[in-house]
Amino acid sequence: MTQRIAILISGRGSNMEAIVRACTAERWPAQVVAVVANRPDAAGLAFAAGHGIATAVVDHKAHGPGASGREAFDAALADVLDRFAPDVVVLAGFMRILGAAFVRRFEGRLLNIHPSLLPAFPGLHTHRRALEAGCKAAGATVHFVTPELDHGPIVMQSVVPVRADDDEHTLAARVLATEHVIYPKSVRWFVEGRLRLVGGRVEQAQGASQLLLDRGTVPGAAGDEGPT
Ligand code: GRF
Repeated sequence: MTQRIAILISGRGSNMEAIVRACTAERWPAQVVAVVANRPDAAGLAFAAGHGIATAVVDHKAHGPGASGREAFDAALADVLDRFAPDVVVLAGFMRILGAAFVRRFEGRLLNIHPSLLPAFPGLHTHRRALEAGCKAAGATVHFVTPELDHGPIVMQSVVPVRADDDEHTLAARVLATEHVIYPKSVRWFVEGRLRLVGGRVEQAQGASQLLLDRGTVPGAAGDEGPT
């Protein structure tokens, strides 16, 4: 049966775009049925609409401040999503923290991508913090969402080198290119029923690698000719 994918965005939506394109090009047993943004000016909405995908905006600013505003926003967002009856809800650059009630409502079918090698650097400014810490590797993580921020069973990670002359923009760009590989792959595995939760960890049913090494650039990685 065709799996129904809903994607939440806040801005550019390049991960959403990668998922939409892969879903069509690779003929997943799935369809992106909705792209929902928390900002009316989210650039990715235009791409979605241009591809015949239903779009919706649940503006967080319309729901007031404080805890009650956050709860009202979460409830409104959940109601909009439920109208599309999604089998999986994909957070793709969605910059709002979702409360425990929302997470529980979609538990087990709620995926996120975070631009760090979790559990390192949850939260904002991951690339700046990785550079400040002198990390030699950086990356991205696709994970199931739990009520704890940027936390939850890991589906897939990508690893890229940090270069001596990197700034947060060059590092972000290198990581983002890998996000566009690991997020579509992870969502595809989900809709194909290839992900299993075993003892709190995610396994790929066929034993496919859940790690993407940027082979061209990580010294010592398979396929790399550089010094080890
Ligand atoms: C990505 O780096 C994602 O990991 C982070 O925000 C960025 C969103 O980019 N959460 P886009 O909107 O998918 O282009």
